[in-house]
Amino acid sequence: MATDFTEDTATEAVTDSFANTSDPRLHTILTSLTRHLHDFVRETEPTPQEWEAAIGFLTEIGHHCTDTRQEFILLSDVLGISMLVETINGRGAEGATEPTVLGPFHLTGSPRRALGDTIDLVGTGEPCVVRGRVSGTDGSPLPGAVLDIWQANDQGFYDVQQPGVQPEGNGRGLFTADAEGHFWFRTCVPSPYPIPTDGPVGALLRATGRHPYRPAHIHVIVEAAGHATLTTHVFVAGSPYVESDAVFAVKRSLVHDFTLVDDAGLATRYGVSTPFRLADFDLVLSRAAS
Ligand code: BEZ
Ligand code: FE
Repeated sequence: MATDFTEDTATEAVTDSFANTSDPRLHTILTSLTRHLHDFVRETEPTPQEWEAAIGFLTEIGHHCTDTRQEFILLSDVLGISMLVETINGRGAEGATEPTVLGPFHLTGSPRRALGDTIDLVGTGEPCVVRGRVSGTDGSPLPGAVLDIWQANDQGFYDVQQPGVQPEGNGRGLFTADAEGHFWFRTCVPSPYPIPTDGPVGALLRATGRHPYRPAHIHVIVEAAGHATLTTHVFVAGSPYVESDAVFAVKRSLVHDFTLVDDAGLATRYGVSTPFRLADFDLVLSRAAS
């Protein structure tokens, strides 16, 4: 005879139903998810109207997903889940640069550029040079490491958010580190910007009195043979929102000075005029898991 479905038997009834799952990892995940969701319902005791509103919210999230917009990832970002997953998976990479979220504005196929090139194709922002060295955790250089760089402009917009306003590829570049692992490129100082707020995630932020802003940052993905690919940012020290990133992606170690430089010799070396901002950002990669 079937057991009565009660508050006490509910969780076991569902977890038992997964007993024949052949993939052990899937079994673990579904069982744990069921336990946590049932505990959440027992703790908050939603009314049927509230549960309907919750389903409606998730449905709206789905409706806002397109080929160029991923509202589910944005939800995961503002709930700190994306960063928690990053942080858990970055464990054990002792001495390596810390990872942070990819975000929705990465494009595969950034334009290839030579070291020293500018990624600022407009030139209205504050000139800036970013330089550093890619190495392994033992300090040895990683010549030929490939750096995929992307950033918002001085107004806080990515090129893909302003087609026809910004040239395609503005704020983006694919660079190859030199024989000593060094890289350098020119750009403008990026501006803080809001994550998209015209969907259900924006409504959630408003309902909870949260602002949507991210502190000024430059994204980088670094790849080098034999090493784990690193996805991270360099944050501009002193930027508004560095203490309250809407997606919780700031790690202290990733916040760097963008120092004001008035040295004509350095300016000539990097092909900029004075004064300009200089950011030093070394990148350390852990070895790939074998
Ligand atoms: C970004 O930095 O591009 C980003 C990350 C998470 C959500 C929205 C934007
Ligand atoms: Fe960004």
